Amino acid sequence: MASSPLLMALLLALAAVASAQLSPTFYATSCPNALSTIKAAVQSAVANEKRMGASLLRLHFHDCFVQGCDGSVLLDDTSSFTGEKTAGPNQNSLRGFDVVDNIKKQVEAICNQTVSCADILAVAARDSVVALGGPTWTVKLGRRDSTTASLSQANSDIPSPASNLSALISSFSKKGLSTTDMVTLSGAHTIGQARCTVFRSRIYNETNIDASFASSVKSNCPSTGGDNNLSPLDLQTPTTFDNDYYNNLVNKKGLMHSDQQLFNGGSTDSQVSSYNSNPSKFASDFAVAIVKMGDISPLTGTQGQIRLNCRKTN
Ligand code: HEM
Ligand SMILES: *[C@@H]1O[C@H](CO)[C@@H](O)[C@H](O)[C@H]1NC(C)=O
Ligand SMILES: *[C@@H]1O[C@H](CO)[C@@H](O)[C@H](O)[C@H]1NC(C)=O
Ligand SMILES: *[C@@H]1O[C@H](CO)[C@@H](O)[C@H](O)[C@H]1NC(C)=O
Repeated sequence: MASSPLLMALLLALAAVASAQLSPTFYATSCPNALSTIKAAVQSAVANEKRMGASLLRLHFHDCFVQGCDGSVLLDDTSSFTGEKTAGPNQNSLRGFDVVDNIKKQVEAICNQTVSCADILAVAARDSVVALGGPTWTVKLGRRDSTTASLSQANSDIPSPASNLSALISSFSKKGLSTTDMVTLSGAHTIGQARCTVFRSRIYNETNIDASFASSVKSNCPSTGGDNNLSPLDLQTPTTFDNDYYNNLVNKKGLMHSDQQLFNGGSTDSQVSSYNSNPSKFASDFAVAIVKMGDISPLTGTQGQIRLNCRKTN
């Protein structure tokens, strides 16, 4: 048996390298100012435009649901490379890429090729939620960036706003997230905006919707045309990260079909009601669930690379 302390230490070290784990202190010595630099840049972007906080949070979600949290969502298409930006859920919809470029430039200037684009998205998501009045959490770090992307997985694995409850549950389950995680993470729809094209059929055709809510949203979303007209996901406080999303759902004021599925007489109604009456429970559960989302199949150790430019592989 391996009884030599040296051999044991070697085996332990090898095991650690083989399964490198994300850690909050990953940049403590290699780039001690990474987190403060990202935070300042996010604060300034959100001060400039509050919606940007929502857009940055969503980028982290769309990154993690496709190949794991590996920065794949940020890669641009080229004549010889197909990224994820033209996928149905992303095209004409995701935003914040310029803000990420600006953060990356600032971080490269203080620590060359040290902080990954995937970690920047995870930290920017947290700093965005905090900037909009939501909970904070400790971000685990050490993700590396992919050299690949998957248009087909972006189309298949990011849930659609037309999804029913069972489809929502299975799309999160496929990523190792529970039904309760799904309901918790959906609370992100307390901030940000959606295009008319993703909620039109709900406001014109569905019956589990508050009539005055539907007619007020129709005023900026005609039954034909105006596909890109925006409406807040949470009409009450669209730039505050609070629990109003759940209040909307219990009042049949979910904007998208998928939102209202969480409170429509099914198994998730009780969790929605609980978050509606207990904002601090939602805040603390969100902090736990988003760390879990950030753990989806990261590249670590010597896998992938640290991109110099988030839009292209090195
Ligand atoms: C549960 C399944 C989900 C579905 C079906 C869904 C779908 C959508 C859709 C269709 C939009 C509007 C896009 C547009 O009109 O261009 C949107 C916006 C948004 N989503 Fe989700 N989403 C889900 C979960 C999540 C999660 C887990 C997060 C983050 C943790 C998130 C964060 C956001 C944010 C912040 C916005 C607003 C973005 C902005 O204003 O730029 N969503 N979502
Ligand atoms: C950063 O490092 C890479 C190689 O690791 C090098 O190609 C690049 O020029 C460096 N950039 C700066 C600004 O030093
Ligand atoms: C939910 O949607 C899926 C496809 O998106 C469909 O196969 C399934 O029958 C639907 N389930 C219910 C209960 O409507
Ligand atoms: C509402 O449903 C009807 C019947 O299915 C359909 O013809 C119409 O296009 C739908 N309207 C919208 C705005 O989705």
